[in-house]
Order: sequence, then C-alpha cells, then structure tokens
Amino acid sequence: MTFRLRGVTVTFLRPAEWTHYLHHLCRHSAVMDLGPMRKSYRGDRETFEEAQLTSLDPMEQFAAWFKEAAQCPDIQEANAMCLASCTRDGKPSARMLLLKGFGKDGFRFFTNFESRKGKELDSNPFASLVFYWEPLNRQVRVEGSVKKLPEEEAKSYFHSRPKSSQIGAVVSRQSSVIPDREYLRKKNQELEQLYQDQEIPKPSYWGGYVLYPQVIEFWQGQTNRLHDRIVFRRGLVTGDSAMEPMTHRGKEDWFYERLAP
Ligand SMILES: Cc1cc2nc3c(=O)[nH]c(=O)nc-3n(C[C@H](O)[C@H](O)[C@H](O)COP(=O)(O)O)c2cc1C
Repeated sequence: MTFRLRGVTVTFLRPAEWTHYLHHLCRHSAVMDLGPMRKSYRGDRETFEEAQLTSLDPMEQFAAWFKEAAQCPDIQEANAMCLASCTRDGKPSARMLLLKGFGKDGFRFFTNFESRKGKELDSNPFASLVFYWEPLNRQVRVEGSVKKLPEEEAKSYFHSRPKSSQIGAVVSRQSSVIPDREYLRKKNQELEQLYQDQEIPKPSYWGGYVLYPQVIEFWQGQTNRLHDRIVFRRGLVTGDSAMEPMTHRGKEDWFYERLAP
C-alpha cells in the first residue's frame, strides 16, 4: 500500500503500518493523498461484452447480476443501494437504502415520507439509484421517476418486518432534530410496552416507493481501466425515425449503447 503526502511517497508492506499512519495523519489534520490507493480488477479476458448480456431487457439483466451478488459470500448486503434525490430547485442529496423488491414496474424501497428524501421525492419525483458490488467489480446505475406504492402493499410489508423494526419506524420521525439518544430510548421503551400484546399500526407517514427506470447502466470494472459500460434507455427512438448506428434495439421499448469508460 502506497500513500503520497506533499510529494513524499510512503510504501507500507503490512496493513497494520498504514492504518497507524492514517490515524497519525487524521490526528494532525494532514491532507491525505489517496491517489495511489487502487486495487486490481478483472483480467482482460473477463470482459463484459454485448454478447454476454443475459437478456436485452435490462430488468432481466439486473436480476442476473443481483442473483450473483446475493450469492457472493463476500457481499453482506447485495440489496444495499445509494438513492439520490433532488430538491425542486436542483440541490441533490444521497443516502444508502435497502432495495426491497424489483420487477417490471421498477425498484421498491421503504422509508418515512416526512424524511428529507420523502420531502424531496414529493416535490421532485425523479431519482437515481446506484448499486456497487465491490467483490464483483460491478456497478449498476438506475434513473427514473418515482411514485408511492399502494397503502395495502406498504401495510403488508410493514407487518412482515420484525416487531422491533416496526416500533423503530414509529419511534423515529426520520430526519427531524432530536435532543439526545435517551429521547429515542425512552420513546422506544414506551411503545414496546404499549404494543406488547397488540399489532402496531403502520404510521401514515411510513411507506414505499417504486422507481420506474428510464435508464439502467451496467458497469464492469477491468484491471486495465478499459471498463465495460452498457447503458439501456427507454423510448430513445420514436416511430420510424432512424437509429444512430451505435444504438441497438433491446427488448420492448429499450435501446442500448456502449459508453466510453
Ligand atoms: C445499508 C443501509 C441501509 C439503509 N436502509 C434504509 C431503508 O431501507 N430505509 C430508510 O428509510 N433508511 C435506510 N437507511 C438509513 C438512510 O441511509 C438515511 O439515514 C435515512 O433514510 C434518512 O435519510 P434522509 O434524511 O436523507 O431522508 C439505511 C442506511 C444504511 C447504511
């Protein structure tokens, strides 16, 4: 592992040495140059070519990659993804969420409608998702429009969660300012007692969204940095208008292209 600091390059052989060095730099507010910090990706023989697409429907391709990620022993939460939302006037924010389902109509996730993301999605119903499966050197990017899931679906998912998670959703008015941790602990305790022997009603401010994809990009990292990027877009060509020569027809209303890395 090599680090560069103000022109001086330091190489460490053992992880214990560089973690100690990083700790030292953080304590002294030094600027850390992590430029040389990189890992080897796949060999050139493991490229991701158009012929290797499992399907010309990107949702089916996503399903194939997701299955591999979920079965990969080095990936703990294959369904962890970053959701980026945006205010009406274009100020973005991003956070990690768990994907809770996907199908023809898109990608499902659950959250608090009154949270920062909830408010942003309300005023600007377009969002983007990013999955990164590091051991497979794969990234998937999704962009599209978002709408709320029906109340019945949200209720059914809410009650399928462990009781502690249901209480957690009631306790936490997500993204609001609170005095301290003790406030949460007390509220949690009160609700545990209150709902000891009864079903916890799903709060009206908690529910799900589905992101209907317009763009899905599959990225496969390569050691030589000639990464593979295949992007699918919906409804790119209308009617009989001619397609660009490097644009290919996928399934249904999907088209796909290769992008430079
Ligand atoms: C791996 C991971 C998974 C998460 N899953 C969810 C989730 O499914 N729903 C949710 O509301 N927050 C989830 N969170 C918490 C969010 O990242 C975030 O803190 C919270 O939703 C508030 O975000 P906001 O203030 O931008 O609305 C998760 C965090 C991590 C690190």
